[in-house]
Parts: sequence; C-alpha cells; structure tokens
Amino acid sequence: MEDKLKKLLAEAEQTLSRAGGLDELNELRVRYLGKKGILTGVLRGMGSLSAHERPVIGQLANEVRGKLEDALARRTAEIKDRVQMARLEAEKIDVTLPGNPFMTGRKHPLAMVQEEIEDIFLWMGYAVEDGPEIELDYYNFEALNFPAEHPARDMQDSFFVSPGVLLRTHTSPVQVRTMERTSPDLPVRVIAPGRVYRRDDDATHSPMFNQVEGFAIDRRVTFGDLRGTLNMFAEKMFGSKTKTRFRPSFFPFTEPSAEVDISCTSCGGQGCRVCSHTGWLEILGCGMIHPRVLEAGGYNPEDVTGFAFGMGVERIAMLKYSLDDMRLFFDNDLRFLAQF
Ligand code: PHE
Repeated sequence: MEDKLKKLLAEAEQTLSRAGGLDELNELRVRYLGKKGILTGVLRGMGSLSAHERPVIGQLANEVRGKLEDALARRTAEIKDRVQMARLEAEKIDVTLPGNPFMTGRKHPLAMVQEEIEDIFLWMGYAVEDGPEIELDYYNFEALNFPAEHPARDMQDSFFVSPGVLLRTHTSPVQVRTMERTSPDLPVRVIAPGRVYRRDDDATHSPMFNQVEGFAIDRRVTFGDLRGTLNMFAEKMFGSKTKTRFRPSFFPFTEPSAEVDISCTSCGGQGCRVCSHTGWLEILGCGMIHPRVLEAGGYNPEDVTGFAFGMGVERIAMLKYSLDDMRLFFDNDLRFLAQF
C-alpha cells in the first residue's frame, strides 16, 4: 500500500509537471483527487489494513493528497503566468514608434498679419470697430466728400449691388458710421479691419482684399500725432530700424493727405529689386480728416480735429514675407499656407 501511494505520487507529479493547459489540469485533479479518483480508490483499500498499519498509511495518504494539491496549485499558477506573459508579449506596443502623422489647422497668413496690426493699435489704446461689406453709396462716397463725378465712383472700380448700394471699395466708410455713434464724445481712437472690393485683378491686385482703417479724433489732434502714431506702427510691424517717409498725396476725405513709405524691408534703403531701386516701399494712405467728413459724422470741425489712415493687409503681408504675388493668399494651396 505504501509503495502504491509513493508510486502514485511520483507518477502524478510527473504528469502534472507536463500538463500544458488549465483544462488538462482540471481533468488531472478529478483523475487523482476526485471522488472516483485514484487516491480515493487506494484509500478505499485501507479497510483491509491492520490496526497499526492504518494510521501510518492514513498519514501517508494525507501527505500524498497535500503534495498533489500543492503540485496542482503550483502548476496552475505556472500556466496562468505563462498565459499572462504570452498575452503581454502579444499585446506589447512599441511606444517609440513614430505616430501616424495628421494635419493640423493653422491661421491663414493674412489673419496672422491682421491680428498683428490689430494688436499694435490695441496696445496704443485703439478699439476695434466693424462695418458692413455691402455699403451705401452715402457712406462709401458721399459722406467721405467724393465729388459726384469722381472717377472712383465709376462702375469701373466698384461692384454695385443696386443703385445706391455697393460692395465697399475701402474701409473708410466705417469712419462716418463710427462718428455717427460716438459724436460728440471724445476722444475717438478706432481701427476697422475688413474686406473691401474693387474691380481689379492682377499679381498685386485682387477683386477682394483686406484693409485696416484707423482714425483718431480729439480736440487738438495734429499731423504730428499722425506721424508719431504711424512711425510707432512701422517700427513695431517691420522692426525698430524701419524709417518712414510721408509724401503729399490726395484723398477726398483727408486734407492734407499723404502716402507713407517705409524703408525697404529687403535692402534697408540701399535700393534693390523689391523697392525698384528707390529704397522705399509704399504701405498706406493717410491724412487729417476733412472738415466735411467730421461734419457728416456729427462733429464740429471748429472744435475737433482728427487723423485717418488706411492700409492693405495683403500688401503689408507681402512686404513682411517678401512675396510678389497677392494671389498666393487666395489660392489656398496648402504647400504655401503650411509655411507660416
Ligand atoms: N481709403 C483709402 C484707400 O482705400 C486709404 C485712406 C484711408 C486714405 C484713410 C486716407 C485716410 O486708398
């Protein structure tokens, strides 16, 4: 009996150590330790043992049972461990692999430049105003002191929607619209960015483009204030070494009027292809607000003065990024846009 038990233990331990899966282990548990199992079978034979053999064999049988249970538990743990390891191995991810590239959106270069312009004037105490793109002839021309027969009113330059209504050709109408709301309050310091429309289309002109209007009204605003303001703007926008030059010009809604050049962003004023060897680049139109325009806005030109300026965002952006074709901004070719 003792031999039988020892053989059983040895054989069972062998079999268990070779068991490959949890199902197999379960079958083995039933086979050795189950109610109809081999160990139980052996113990059933204990009835035929003598009284002094019985406790010895009984103890041995318990030891065998204990060892088999241990072996089963160990093997179960081993197999579970192996299954777990295999799973970890299979599910392993290499976190050092490069990810899937994806496209990120970004701001359009024109939006970036416009915001930069806005930020400079906001910093100088200006507020941002808005006006309609579909505008009345009155605000676009008449209130801005355009004579009735002025060529800019011609169908050649403007997109008319209906008689007396057009796509605004510049942001200057926002001057009078704002004055109507603010007058007679002082001071007024406003910039008005937005889209404008003209019948023009080539490398440096687009039928739709963007302007930023700016104007300031107060009791003693001077041309000197205008110069100081635009000098500051030019230095902030194009770098502190940038110089400005004011050339006499004409606009119906400013008097006196000027066009402002900055020293060439490419050669610094030496003269190069970008500035047609003049050393200067035109960036905007400006002047002292015409008394008739102040009047149209509800201000008394005897009491107040103001200056105004208007610049093209595309033009500023082209100078800033050394581009020679405005159409790049509107083609929206990602190879172009992704460079900003
Ligand atoms: N509105 C003018 C233009 O579009 C620019 C300008 C604005 C000039 C304000 C003087 C004062 O050309």
